[in-house]
Amino acid sequence: MNWLVRLFARTEPTLSTASPRDAAALAALHAASFNRGWSEHEFEQLLTDRSVVTDRATSGRRNVGFILSRRAADEAEILSVAVARAWQGRGLARRLLDLHLRRLAGLGLRAVFLEVDEANTPARRLYARAGFREVGRRPGYYARSGGKGALVLRRDLV
Ligand SMILES: CC(C)(COP(=O)(O)OP(=O)(O)OC[C@H]1O[C@@H](n2cnc3c(N)ncnc32)[C@H](O)[C@@H]1OP(=O)(O)O)[C@@H](O)C(=O)NCCC(=O)NCCS
Repeated sequence: MNWLVRLFARTEPTLSTASPRDAAALAALHAASFNRGWSEHEFEQLLTDRSVVTDRATSGRRNVGFILSRRAADEAEILSVAVARAWQGRGLARRLLDLHLRRLAGLGLRAVFLEVDEANTPARRLYARAGFREVGRRPGYYARSGGKGALVLRRDLV
């Protein structure tokens, strides 16, 4: 079994579209990444919602990352991004975000928005490198979960 673990540890995760069958795995990943997790049922609802676009990263059979956004008219909001701790700092979120933005552009969307905790350095660096710019602030927005204010970011797709 160890040879299998070593093999997958070397292989770059594969990116693909998530389906409702990923609900349990994505709920577990989300719960490990955020103070308030979303339940498996919430993920099932999101993953069956036609306005929701979700990409996942898998290593072997394990879900090791995902990004999820909701479309409305010609815009989308990124609702969540997470990468399993063991895979962080290796460019996986960047790959997921690049793919996701290309998919959203391919759907004809013109802009993407998101909110990020001012204190979340990895996420802020991720979005800055992908060309997001600040368009608003919500002071104290994440204070109850131990964070700071929220930055509202926007990235044009056209
Ligand atoms: C944010 C998150 C998705 C980034 O995933 P990742 O795969 O580690 O990100 P990447 O390896 O693609 O790196 C993205 C940027 O973050 C930086 N980064 C990664 N880990 C970091 C750390 N621990 N401290 C500081 N910067 C870090 C990278 O250097 C890179 O920036 P750069 O391109 O300027 O060098 C991941 O940290 C995570 O899942 N966090 C918990 C959930 C979360 O906060 N989601 C975002 C909510 S808005």
